[in-house]
Amino acid sequence: LRHLLTIDGLPRAILTHILDTAEGFISVSEQEVKKVPLLRGKAIFNLFFEPSTRTRTTFEIAAKRLSADVINLNINASSQSKGETLLDTVDNLAAMQADMFVVRHAQSGAAHMIARHVAPHIHVVNAGDGRHAHPTQGLLDVFTIRKYKGEFHNLRVAIVGDVLHSRVARSQIHALTTLGVPEVRVIAPKTLLPVGVEQMGVHVYHDMLQGLKDVDVVIMLRLQNERMRGARLPSSQEYFKYYGLTQEKLALARPDAIVMHPGPMNRGVEIDSSVADGKQSVILPQVTYGIAVRMAVMSILAGN
Ligand code: CP
Repeated sequence: LRHLLTIDGLPRAILTHILDTAEGFISVSEQEVKKVPLLRGKAIFNLFFEPSTRTRTTFEIAAKRLSADVINLNINASSQSKGETLLDTVDNLAAMQADMFVVRHAQSGAAHMIARHVAPHIHVVNAGDGRHAHPTQGLLDVFTIRKYKGEFHNLRVAIVGDVLHSRVARSQIHALTTLGVPEVRVIAPKTLLPVGVEQMGVHVYHDMLQGLKDVDVVIMLRLQNERMRGARLPSSQEYFKYYGLTQEKLALARPDAIVMHPGPMNRGVEIDSSVADGKQSVILPQVTYGIAVRMAVMSILAGN
């Protein structure tokens, strides 16, 4: 594996190898060993052209725990504002002996374009491109599910909300189906589902009360307003009534169901605070596991 651009098409063996490697990094951190020398001497550039709290920070922590040098390009203060192209920016950073670019961009395909452009020794990780893919989020989500549920082969997983605009949902669906989850459900109004979503191997529900019945995992998604350009948005109250997760709706899932959310959450829109902060929520452990999963990805791509 030279780059990680999408989960689509990656075989189960590679996904399992990444999850198992991440498990090893959890064991290391449990022994209070905070650093390993796997990427010593490597220079990793974080290029975030869209805002991020969790992904950018956990990539930075992960790189530092692998002993790499991390450079966070401040896009707003960069020469992009003077008209420099994305590939000219990348070429100039490559001339500073970059070994890896971690890229988030509003345009679907931006990370692929950089991966095609860079020299063979440079690795590219997609940290979210448009509505296309967010592979490390998908991986940390399946890692979290494996931690809490142990196996994939006996699970029902429901993904609820704005699947249409969600790169996270696409990566989750590819990861879950590849790892053998027999029933992946998507629950959303027709207007928030991509045409032909069934071809991704999911079961479609428009009624949340039916879709949540007996599931083991509930993954909530945010309304991605920034990608809706001109669409008529439902009001927050209207959306919450039909697609917001409350304790009452969660009671339809299995009693030991876990609740996940990639963040950022909009409380009172797609999830009630009592659920987000409740005993079935694993939303903050997802963030923590993101460090080990990103350590695994970077060490597999660029480790000595
Ligand atoms: N899940 C996720 O991508 O969060 P950030 O936008 O904060 O990185």
